[in-house]
Amino acid sequence: MRLGLLTSGGDCAGLNAVIRAVVTRAVLGHGWQVLGIRQATHGLLSRPVDALDLTPDGVAGVLNLGGTLLGTTNRDNPFAYPAKDGHTTDRSAVVAAGYHELRLDALIGAGGDGSLNILRRLAAQGGWKLVGIPKTIDNDVRHTEHAIGFNSAVAIATEAVDRLHVTAASHSRVMVLEVMGRDAGHIALAAGIAGGADVILIPEIPYTMAAICGKIEERRRGRNFSIVVVAESVKGPAGETITTMDAHGQSRYGGIGALIAQEIAARTGAETRVTVLGHVQRGGAPAPLDRVLASAFGVYAVDLVAAGRYDRMVAWQNRRVVDVPIAEAIAHYHGVDPDDALVHTARGLGIAFGDEVGRD
Ligand code: F6P
Repeated sequence: MRLGLLTSGGDCAGLNAVIRAVVTRAVLGHGWQVLGIRQATHGLLSRPVDALDLTPDGVAGVLNLGGTLLGTTNRDNPFAYPAKDGHTTDRSAVVAAGYHELRLDALIGAGGDGSLNILRRLAAQGGWKLVGIPKTIDNDVRHTEHAIGFNSAVAIATEAVDRLHVTAASHSRVMVLEVMGRDAGHIALAAGIAGGADVILIPEIPYTMAAICGKIEERRRGRNFSIVVVAESVKGPAGETITTMDAHGQSRYGGIGALIAQEIAARTGAETRVTVLGHVQRGGAPAPLDRVLASAFGVYAVDLVAAGRYDRMVAWQNRRVVDVPIAEAIAHYHGVDPDDALVHTARGLGIAFGDEVGRD
């Protein structure tokens, strides 16, 4: 059996732990060969296909390392591949054929919803036997309580809130922390609760500046500093989407923290400062839970291949690994449910979401 393995989409802590688990289980548990494909679909597009033999000895020391030793990409969708003239072209047939160039019997791909969607389409086109592993700091893949990388990102964001607390208190300031999460507020919600924020703004709950400032005024009557955690995709005060364009013409979130801080300062007279946490949330050693998940997902994914069960994604439900159809996991975007238990927890602690009645 020749098993392919790739990591796709934005990197996150815990991917090397996945690689280690898959290689260890496949080689030592089943006696298979594992080929690691470099840079996800980019590696499958190259000729010869850009891949390397992975051995248990070769991956023995990577459990606690951030990033991915295979490399990854969150650009250049093979179905709409950027061409030199600025248009896009469909390179999916070449990428799909890369699997057969390597003479693979099956492929395990770790990715978020976007990557799993692309891999699944390639699998259908090229006759691949595919098993998916959910990874994304955004935690926006359905049917799994945790995706790999989420807990590490939350740990980093929580530490940032802790650090902001002390400097906020020293200067009697309102500190605004902008965190990642793409279109979902999972990181902001979890880190806001774990760090004891006063206000959490997430894209799933519309806010008013009046309600946010009402909470901040309430705080100023007491301890005179506040912490606001805002998810990057929260809309601006006038309902506008806040994005910037990068050098490749791709738009990305960023800048909402500064706008919120500006508005708070103008409306309350408070001194505000902004921290944009950015890619710090993706690097560094994986948190223990991500190492556990990565290990459990890796072993289970290999065993799914051994059982001939394909087009499935491993998932974490009720403290155990299960598997679900990839199609179901990516069918709908998984944002924060405004009625989620953690939203109730936060409200129960007096944390504002900016939608509080009587303050708008
Ligand atoms: O999906 C992971 C993520 O880190 C998002 O939270 C963020 O919006 C995006 O990727 C950033 O992408 P890039 O690494 O291309 O800047």
